[in-house]
Amino acid sequence: NWSMGNYIEETIKNIKETVGDKKVLLGLSGGVDSSVAATLIHRAIGDQLTCIFVDTGLLRKDEAKKVMEVYGQNFHMNIKCVDAEERFLSKLAGVSEPEAKRKIIGKEFVEVFNEEAGKLTDVEFLAQGTIYPDVIESQSVKGPSMTIKSHHNVGGLPKEMKFKLLEPLRELFKDEVRKVGRELGIPDHMIDRHPFPGPGLGIRILGAVDKEKADILREADDIFIEELRKADLYNKVSQAFVVLLPVKSVGVMGDERTYEYTAVLRSANTIDFMTATWSHLPFDFLERVSNRILNEVKGINRLTYDISSKPPATIEWE
Ligand code: XMP
Repeated sequence: NWSMGNYIEETIKNIKETVGDKKVLLGLSGGVDSSVAATLIHRAIGDQLTCIFVDTGLLRKDEAKKVMEVYGQNFHMNIKCVDAEERFLSKLAGVSEPEAKRKIIGKEFVEVFNEEAGKLTDVEFLAQGTIYPDVIESQSVKGPSMTIKSHHNVGGLPKEMKFKLLEPLRELFKDEVRKVGRELGIPDHMIDRHPFPGPGLGIRILGAVDKEKADILREADDIFIEELRKADLYNKVSQAFVVLLPVKSVGVMGDERTYEYTAVLRSANTIDFMTATWSHLPFDFLERVSNRILNEVKGINRLTYDISSKPPATIEWE
């Protein structure tokens, strides 16, 4: 019988006993799992925890700022924010094949993380936000979700790293992780977040990725998410985002002809992410989002809504 009060107390006690006076390193992504793990560990051992946050240049708008505000300024965690945008974008330049992009991003992430880890001394533990479904999934490596796409997440850190693992959420389901996070005082908007893939905007910019496209996509995506929250729809869909297509089409603005990118609104409802239906968002809501994106985001002059379910489509476009 799972009780949250006990869970938090006991876990903090366990972490203290396990870690003693040693140091712990954690890759903070801003996602629910790593954030809750970090907060829990920080409660237990304070400054013995160092978090590394890698800004890949493929994150949502102001993501690094938000993470640093909540966990750095407010919670006083020790966070090293690494600006690796140029590194990632230069490695990705001209690469358009989805799996190739995933591999580059995953490899670069591990390299940046290892470099930063190497700068720290006396670290004995690597903490991860592994939750129970991750444990199950990694036990069935041949399962469909692993073979269809080479999922990379922070879980893909190299085995040869000589750290002991600290995984305080290993026995929890997602809803339990969220409860723990709320109880620890993490703001709702960080706890109720939709999943965000490890390769980030790298797989939402179809084809070759560059900074101009990433900036355009960030603006459009931010408007979509903001409007979903305003309309109280964010928590009624499982995952929502914008995709930028490598397609330009003709439009008109004032007396001028435009020739700009086409973007796609994608929103899916799902229980397990293995199958999904497209969200039946209200037309007046879609109209509002469309007006805002087409008026406010320079570089996009046409917006479409994805009405594909999974299968046969996937939730992401790559
Ligand atoms: P698909 O597109 O396969 O996505 O229907 C199912 C869920 O998995 C997420 N996803 C990923 N997550 N690395 C990740 O960490 C990836 O490479 C990746 N590809 C897809 C997707 O966002 C959705 O939640």
